[in-house]
Amino acid sequence: MTSASNPEVAAPYGTGPSTPAKPAKRVRIHHLRELKERGEPWPMLTAYDMYTAELFDEAGIPVLLVGDSASNNVYGYDTSLPVTVDEMIPLVRAVTRSVKRALVVADLPFGSYQLSPEQALATSVRMMKEGRAHAVKLEGGRAFAPHVKAITTAGVPVMGHIGFTPQSEHNLGGYRVQGRGGAADQLVEDALALQEAGAFAVVMEMVTAEVAKKITHELKIPTIGIGAGPDCDGQVLVWHDLLGLTTGHVPRFVKPYASLAVTVVAALRAYASDVRERRFPGTEHEYRMADGERESFEAELAAQADAPGTR
Ligand code: KIV
Repeated sequence: MTSASNPEVAAPYGTGPSTPAKPAKRVRIHHLRELKERGEPWPMLTAYDMYTAELFDEAGIPVLLVGDSASNNVYGYDTSLPVTVDEMIPLVRAVTRSVKRALVVADLPFGSYQLSPEQALATSVRMMKEGRAHAVKLEGGRAFAPHVKAITTAGVPVMGHIGFTPQSEHNLGGYRVQGRGGAADQLVEDALALQEAGAFAVVMEMVTAEVAKKITHELKIPTIGIGAGPDCDGQVLVWHDLLGLTTGHVPRFVKPYASLAVTVVAALRAYASDVRERRFPGTEHEYRMADGERESFEAELAAQADAPGTR
């Protein structure tokens, strides 16, 4: 697209974010609270780049999480621990620049908030100013209530995350369901402490459905489940799992709605075979000289070939 102020022609290998017919209404944290009050469940999804953010926004997903799962799903680390704030911020910015309506939540990565409420606020400020996020998320229960309070007091909405918290996977003994045995009361206390500290929502990961239901009923703020049963106010999944781009093991709580890995591999095999067999590019994909230009170009080539001393 060109304009008087921007005479550049758009890059030919992508279209950039498209312009909607009329501006969409931004999802705000109070809308999520209203959905809870009306008993209407809502979906949330991870997003880490422009195209997915634009598509998920267009599909009406109200909340997009730039999760620290980018560590595994974008940067290729084996856990969520190594990803840094500097690695997260460009992804957050790409997502926020690409949505018209969705509320974009930026995850605070491991080591970027645990040291103190001050550190948590400083990292949140970076996510808001540099990433243009609309809210942040951090993992942990009661122990992190002061961190949540410091961030919300500064005007930044915070989403909590309890149950199985991947940043503590070594401490929790690996991927294990939480809320079994005597742990249920502690999870309830964690959720209440986050609400009290000002969190606008709480993710519950791999929590028994019974405990998740109890917490959802006790909290005024929305709960968002991932492996926490059907009674949470919202549900969240990592998009690679939901759309079947993940080739390895997927957890029990994932329902794949597509098989993108199969589609992509089949398409790439067809492309590779077309290139090898010279079926691609076809005439419809090439650029040709105009007739007059081609004739003089070919005549020039022929003259060069005929000239003495040339081969
Ligand atoms: O980082 C992430 O993707 C998450 C979700 C799974 C809740 O924290």
